[in-house]
Amino acid sequence: MNGTIAPGPTGRPLVGSLFDWRRTPAEFLLRLQRDHGEVVRMKLGPYLVHLVTEPDAVHRVLVGNHHNYDRGKLYDQFKLVMGTGLLTTDGPAWRSHRRAVQPLFLNRAIGAILPNVIESTHQMLDRWEVAAARGEPVDLIGEMLQLTLVTLSRSLFGYDPGAAVAEMKRTVDAGIELMFTHGLLSEQLPEWIPNARNRQIRATRRFFDRLVDDIRSNHHRTGQGQLVELMETARDPVDGRAWTDREIRDELLTVYLAGHETTAAAACWALYALSGHRWAAEELTAEVDQVLAGRAPTLADTERLTYTGQVIQEALRLYPPIWTFPRGVVADDELAGRHVPAGSSILISPLVSHRNPRIWDNPDAFDPARFAGDAARRLPRLSYLPFGGGPRMCVGNLMALLELKVIVALVSQRFQLQTVPGDFVRYGHSVISLRPQGRLLVTPKPRVGAAA
Ligand code: HEM
Repeated sequence: MNGTIAPGPTGRPLVGSLFDWRRTPAEFLLRLQRDHGEVVRMKLGPYLVHLVTEPDAVHRVLVGNHHNYDRGKLYDQFKLVMGTGLLTTDGPAWRSHRRAVQPLFLNRAIGAILPNVIESTHQMLDRWEVAAARGEPVDLIGEMLQLTLVTLSRSLFGYDPGAAVAEMKRTVDAGIELMFTHGLLSEQLPEWIPNARNRQIRATRRFFDRLVDDIRSNHHRTGQGQLVELMETARDPVDGRAWTDREIRDELLTVYLAGHETTAAAACWALYALSGHRWAAEELTAEVDQVLAGRAPTLADTERLTYTGQVIQEALRLYPPIWTFPRGVVADDELAGRHVPAGSSILISPLVSHRNPRIWDNPDAFDPARFAGDAARRLPRLSYLPFGGGPRMCVGNLMALLELKVIVALVSQRFQLQTVPGDFVRYGHSVISLRPQGRLLVTPKPRVGAAA
């Protein structure tokens, strides 16, 4: 295999660029593209890693030569609490599971989530009325995390978390945090050592085991929960066996963990962007008022909310919740003329690709017009990839886009949001999803004469 060695940072002996990565991972990756180009070689501790943002090279990894790129070592950490599900497997096991759940996520099926999303969003907005009457701010990221947890539970699992939602939110957050390695010694210790981290891993797993038991028994009792039904009745295409309890547990949790925080972060960033760009908020509100005339949206309405869709696409460009994801290199390959050796890792980064000044004019500016008409089709393939690409593209992407449209439209129908001065947003220090650090406070101002 030919190809030259890619440029990259020198790093320090033994650790390479690990400390830069740990300090501000997103900013570090953005710097790499700026200083070294679109295929960058670095050492992160013991790992040889290439950051790849050159669009044809990204296409080769995710589509053209995808058989040569597996989940790799960096995805293993996800198995810690989630187990072995769609996100973490490869080969025939992944293929048969993906085929089994896919029908629920197709265009013709996702409309079924609409009543749940509308009801849950209105319940949240009713609480915001109370906060608004008292002149109190709300924490946008906290609110969105709770909302998407509830909609996901109700829509896919037929399960209403009710009063347990706060504990669920905490445990899901803790689970996500545990899956992210910080390069600490405590993360290398065997699981039987009773240190704080290992105790938390066990407690989180116990909580998730109980949650899955509850969801399944609720399904057996009520028949609710289409995704549970698909998993309970799935058969292996080769030997016809049913999924084991373990497989069902791991896939249920995978969908919870992959689908909830990502959608919450995206909704939060879209509303945050609108709060800071009044002209965009006004154009969006005018569209919502015109299309919905104060009603909740039907599926047909959502297709007519085109500017709302552009705002969401632009928010996903500037703040892609899955801001980076890895692959392992199976055999030596060449990407954009650079050699990538077998056994090393690749980082694909929607965040860095979406801020590539060679592709995007003024990449740091919020400008929904970038997605007007068919402008996005003229972009180089895979230069815009908030949901990844190729066979492993996000299974929930259509569902997420629909949910986001409905949330943003319903919020804008009833409220104008103002970011609380002094409460600032930092991103780039995130764990799994790119999300604001701590709280993001906004004051909801009811729109005069808006429909409830
Ligand atoms: C704005 C919201 C979302 C974003 C930005 C997002 C992003 C992504 C990305 C980038 C991947 C590909 C990872 C890779 O190739 O390694 C992915 C995979 C996945 N996502 Fe999403 N996602 C979102 C919402 C959802 C939802 C709502 C669900 C389910 C209800 C979901 C379930 C999954 C699953 C199961 C996978 C693994 C697919 C596979 O490998 O076959 N995601 N997501």
